[in-house]
Amino acid sequence: MARVLLLGGSGQLGTCIRCRYPRTWDLHAPPSSQLDVTDASAVQKTVAEFEPDLVINAAAFNRVDEAERHPEQAYAVNALGADHVAHAAKRARARLIHISTDYVFDGLQNGLPATEPYHEDATPHPLNVYGKSKHEGELTVLASGGEAAVLRTAWLYSEHGRNFVRAVLARLTMGEQLRVVSDQIGSPTYAGDLADAVIALGLRGESVAGIWHVTGAEAMSWYRFACRIVDIWQEPEFAGMRGTRPATCAAGDGNCAVVVPITSHAWGASASRPAYSVLSCEKARVLGITPKPLDSRLRQVLRAVLRR
Ligand SMILES: NC(=O)c1ccc[n+]([C@@H]2O[C@H](COP(=O)([O-])OP(=O)(O)OC[C@H]3O[C@@H](n4cnc5c(N)ncnc54)[C@H](OP(=O)(O)O)[C@@H]3O)[C@@H](O)[C@H]2O)c1
Repeated sequence: MARVLLLGGSGQLGTCIRCRYPRTWDLHAPPSSQLDVTDASAVQKTVAEFEPDLVINAAAFNRVDEAERHPEQAYAVNALGADHVAHAAKRARARLIHISTDYVFDGLQNGLPATEPYHEDATPHPLNVYGKSKHEGELTVLASGGEAAVLRTAWLYSEHGRNFVRAVLARLTMGEQLRVVSDQIGSPTYAGDLADAVIALGLRGESVAGIWHVTGAEAMSWYRFACRIVDIWQEPEFAGMRGTRPATCAAGDGNCAVVVPITSHAWGASASRPAYSVLSCEKARVLGITPKPLDSRLRQVLRAVLRR
């Protein structure tokens, strides 16, 4: 049995990993109340005692706007916490898979608005505190000298936790109209698919050190993503699950009456976000990890969320 230590096991990705990990793994996933990654000695002690073969760091301070107001908290978890985990893993000779983000990029390429997916070797230039703290986390993990893989992903959604799909569904069920940003392009990623990719990396016998990009197959704006959620939500399968005040929607042409496109400026979030943060996932294909289509995953999530 491989001994695997999972940090952030209560989050979206962590929950998906706990639902899917193989029987050949002896998985230990202490909650943050038992193991706080900002506490260097606690991390060191847990890793030394458990003696993992593999550490998966899915712990993060993920609230992008809140990070602007509390940068010290974001850096404590995303940069310092990553440093503690990476050095403890190295000391224990454990391999590390550390999760990072598309928000290490700024949406520009050669000073112009980006139009091509970012490859793993593109130079990060984060726009917000969250992205900067995650980038620092990447650097410390890669410099730790251990056997470490940094896996960047984007726009996670799932049936678990706090995410865009669940927020849209909650509004739709209440019969409310949504204003959604249409000038940021990224790749929605089902956390279950990312969990499968993490597990696949963890099961590889040979080294997977370095940076990898893993996202869903399709790039779109948050607005188009919301319209796709509405399209699926309107399918006959979900007819009896749409709540008491279903919104009316003229879907079918990719546009939707209940979803109104707005600019990032009009939304007025505290944190700047890249206008384009699509990641190229070509490199991961050599590991058999391929981007998965959106609609089938959305149906899966809607079934799980609406049937609750
Ligand atoms: N969500 C996205 O859209 C997105 C996009 C790109 C990249 N990512 C990256 O993907 C990874 C997983 O994201 P996610 O959406 O699964 O995150 P999530 O749902 O927000 O979960 C974060 C996890 O981190 C734990 N955590 C927070 N502070 C901690 C601390 N000080 N010590 C130990 N654990 C702590 C949380 O525990 P508690 O629940 O106990 O606080 C939770 O289990 C992260 O690295 C994130 O940066 C996410």
